Parts: sequence; structure tokens; C-alpha cells
Amino acid sequence: MIYVTGDTHAEFRYRFNTENFPEQRQMTKDDFLIICGDFGGIWDIGWESKNEKYWLDWFESRPYTLLFVDGNHENFDRLYGYPVKEWHGGLVHEIRPHVLHLMRGQVFEIDGKKIFAFGGARSHDIDGGILSPEDPDFKKKKHDLDKEHICYRIDHLSWWERELATEEEMEEAYRNLQANGNEADFVITHCCATSTQTLLGGSLFQPDAVTDFLEYVKTHVTYKKWFFGHYHDNRNVSDKEILIYEQIIRIS
Ligand SMILES: [Fe+2]
Repeated sequence: MIYVTGDTHAEFRYRFNTENFPEQRQMTKDDFLIICGDFGGIWDIGWESKNEKYWLDWFESRPYTLLFVDGNHENFDRLYGYPVKEWHGGLVHEIRPHVLHLMRGQVFEIDGKKIFAFGGARSHDIDGGILSPEDPDFKKKKHDLDKEHICYRIDHLSWWERELATEEEMEEAYRNLQANGNEADFVITHCCATSTQTLLGGSLFQPDAVTDFLEYVKTHVTYKKWFFGHYHDNRNVSDKEILIYEQIIRIS
């Protein structure tokens, strides 16, 4: 079985308890729950804090394998520090033996289905910009933004340039897609294609390198369903593209 859900932002307690997700009673480690980015379980500065370790170990103890693509709310310095392993045909960061980060541009075969994974997205909640602690005016800028209640992020503390894919990651995706005949059963991403984003929000969201890359995927890859998060809503944007948030749905 494969289940999919949207952004969690480290809020795991209610969505995944047995009351809200009773299907897990029938699951084994050969069944999968996929989070479409903004996992948030690897966020704190330093290494696994007591709280983070608790939840990562908790997922390891669940009767399923947890998979996630990255969103824009992950600590990329830490996420990319976990060991890289080959798993079901693609590369993962192994957080725990059964808690795995599906790396960008990989094609996995699980439960007899091919899954193309591509995490990352541009942050929208940064009206006040990205502050650098190295900036001599850092304290003043932070103080002014706090006073006005304007959203901002701090480089390498709450924002990472790697939220957007690099050229190499896109090249890796092109190669892997081509090796799979540009076909996948499911596409799992955090944001969506530029044209899909326009359908969702009109001019509210700006295209970027990742949405443009995903536009290529949308027009060149044959897929059955595409699940993505990021926009914090549950909507069938088209017959194949599904924006998912708190719902947990079975796809296989
Ligand atoms: Fe999010």
C-alpha cells in the first residue's frame, strides 16, 4: 500500500495517530506513507534535538515506512548531512532505516509503481526578505521587521538557498526520467508546474526555476497522478494533478 499526505511542518501527533489514520493497523514496513514536502522533522539547529529524535524514532517504530520529499521548510544543512543510500532504484538520505528522504530527480519503484520525486520550492512567506547574521545591520533590520510583524527568514537558521533545486539536480532528473522512458505512475513534488500554479493562484505566485522545470515534467513525462503540497489546501487542480494538505489518501 502507498498513502500520500501534504505538508506536516513537524506536526505529527494528530494527523498520524491511530484515530485519524486507522489504516496503519493493516500496514507493514513494506507499505509506505509519503509526505509531499515541508516534513519539518529535520529543522533544529545543531543535530537531532530531544524532541526531533523522539519523533524520528516514533516514525521508525510505526508499522509503515515513512518517505518524504523535501519542501522549503527543512534544514537543508542537516538534511543533506544524512548518509546517501541506494533504495528501490533511486537515492535517499537515510534518516532512519524506515524514515527516508527521497532525493530530487530520482525514480523509485515501490509497490510495483514507479515514482518520480522532486522536492523543493520557493518560500512565499518572506515579505521581509532573507536576513544574514553576517550583515552589520542584522540586529536593526530584525528589530524593525519584528516590530512591524513582517515575515522574514534568516540564512542558514530558517532559510536555505537549497530550497530551490540546483542545475545538477535537474540534470539528474532529466537523466533518470530518460532512463525510465519519461514515464512514471506517480509524480511526487512539493510545488507544482508553472501553469498549474497559475491555475491555483493566478498572479499570486511567481514562476521560478523549479516550477519551470516541473512545467517540463508536466509536458514531457507520461504520468497517472501527480501529488504536491506547498500551497496548504486540498484541491484537484486537474484530473491528474492533486494538491494535498491534511488529507491522507491511498494511491496504491
Ligand atoms: Fe508548507
